[in-house]
Amino acid sequence: MKVSIEIRSKSSQEWLSAVMNDFDSFLQDHADCERKASAMALSFIAKYPMRTEIVPELIETALEELEHFQQVYDVMRARGVELASEIEKDVYINKLIALSASGGEKRFMDRLLLASVIECRGTERFKMVSETVEDTELKKFYKMLWTVEAKHGNIFVAMALRYFDEKEVYDRLDYFMEEEVKILASIKPRAAVH
Ligand SMILES: [Fe+2]
Ligand SMILES: [Fe+2]
Repeated sequence: MKVSIEIRSKSSQEWLSAVMNDFDSFLQDHADCERKASAMALSFIAKYPMRTEIVPELIETALEELEHFQQVYDVMRARGVELASEIEKDVYINKLIALSASGGEKRFMDRLLLASVIECRGTERFKMVSETVEDTELKKFYKMLWTVEAKHGNIFVAMALRYFDEKEVYDRLDYFMEEEVKILASIKPRAAVH
């Protein structure tokens, strides 16, 4: 069974313009997203310590995301940008998480698949940024980043496939991918990852 885990819509030019017009705000939000991605990988371990098969990969992912946080922070410091003192609620993430089952095995699967969806959208957006931004260093940085995030999109699905039936996983992923497009379209474009 081969199912594409490609994102189902292209991010809008409005979003891209919002980012390009206020890159410092985008960096602030991006740094926060990397920090939260690292924390999310660790929270899987905290919630599911008995899923020993995936613990090493979760640790590795947490480290990679933390390294991204450090790298984005370095870019910010070089530009004289501070971390945001107040973080706006990430409506996109909250709406996606709200789709997950309320408990048990199903929630575990849903959270893994939603992590994958979030990584896939991040990949698509960082790629767009890398192709648009003019600064050579930033271009290089976002290119490196989207290639790593593309890998993350796959590993969370692979983790789900260790524990759940292939059809169940891909049907659910398909549903999340479709819903993600609607959620994204409902959000006003801003200088942020989502
Ligand atoms: Fe990352
Ligand atoms: Fe990632």
